[in-house]
Amino acid sequence: MTSFTVHGGRPLRGTIRVPGDKSISHRALLLAARAEGVSVVRGLSTGEDVAHTAAAIQAMGAGIDGDAITGGVARLHEPETVIDVGNSGTGIRLLAGFCAAFPWLTVLQGDQSVARRPMDRIVGPLREMGATVDGRADGLFPPLTIRGGALRGIRYTPKVASAQVKSAVLLAGLGAEGETTVVERRPTRAHTEELLALAGMDVVGRGDGITVHRGPLTPFELDVPGDPSQAAFWVVAATIVAGSELTVEGVYLGPERDRFLDVLDRMGADIERCQRADGAWDLRVRSARLRGTEIAGDEIPGLVDEVPVLAVAAAVADGVTVVRDASEARVKETDRLATVTSELTALGARVEQLGDGLVVPGGARLRGARVVSHGDHRIAMAMAVAGLAAVGETEIDGWDAVATSYPGFEQALETCVS
Ligand code: S3P
Repeated sequence: MTSFTVHGGRPLRGTIRVPGDKSISHRALLLAARAEGVSVVRGLSTGEDVAHTAAAIQAMGAGIDGDAITGGVARLHEPETVIDVGNSGTGIRLLAGFCAAFPWLTVLQGDQSVARRPMDRIVGPLREMGATVDGRADGLFPPLTIRGGALRGIRYTPKVASAQVKSAVLLAGLGAEGETTVVERRPTRAHTEELLALAGMDVVGRGDGITVHRGPLTPFELDVPGDPSQAAFWVVAATIVAGSELTVEGVYLGPERDRFLDVLDRMGADIERCQRADGAWDLRVRSARLRGTEIAGDEIPGLVDEVPVLAVAAAVADGVTVVRDASEARVKETDRLATVTSELTALGARVEQLGDGLVVPGGARLRGARVVSHGDHRIAMAMAVAGLAAVGETEIDGWDAVATSYPGFEQALETCVS
């Protein structure tokens, strides 16, 4: 287990680029594997999660040569070995939907954290479509076995607002008889729909659900834009460390990925957004005094991964921040309401857990301390951000978790702190 030490109080300056978006990267690989020919995907996430999905599609017969991905339904085959998704909950849920569309046996497993993540949310609808899916505790936990093929389309309303559930059902729907429709109670990130449209599918849009049907996908070309969830660490860091002025370049800000910016705007942050010719955004951030806010309801799915770093912002803001309706944050790589509370407390902040949220009284003067990642990349990076705003040194144990999504975070930090 490696640790990383952050020295507090150094302003962030200059320009930074974040890795390609992780959610888009998983989907680009899966859809390129299904598309009939050679797709070109540049700038995939460099993290281990996406590398596992790349290995998974290769195990099923897709070819990857640099940016070129050769796919097609006829070349795909049953994987000969167990597919390991590593730490990736998105990987296992999307792959489950993808594999259910084919008449194969697939076995999906992950690490200890994935083994505790609830799978009933995808197992239910995939069974309803006709796949034979099993897992520990009657399909609640991985490993999962999937015997797919001969699916029928369904109309499905997920019980939890989850882009992973929506995407698993839509990916299975690509091989199902008839139409498959997902109706969302609360909108979630739209990458699967966006990339299906790029691959030539006439995806019917949001109002009465998202509908897909069987049919060949066409190969596509894609430059994966920067990951807003990774940009959020830099945006909060530059906001809360006095004297900072930092630009984060080329970030995706599509539906349900930019909600953390709305929250920071409300808290008084100074963030200029400037759209580039390629559609991605540059974010220019200057440090600012923040005030507390309330984060709840429909806003949550669009910032669910940013809860830990927003809690860091809330800790140093003036006044109380309340987060509600965020119980999904408890079933991520860790129970993030619990882990962010324990680690921010170690740095001198006051944080109180609610069943589905947090109360952060604000006004903390953070002091460097030894904290732990709990094996969760976003907790590790959120603590690095807190450490930058703290007095003294913060040592983060379990820093190796960061490799799942952001190898090179430390080097990027060194380039922008003076
Ligand atoms: C993701 C969706 C979110 C998010 C995860 C990535 C995706 O999960 O937390 O990091 O790529 O679909 P849920 O949709 O299950 O909340």
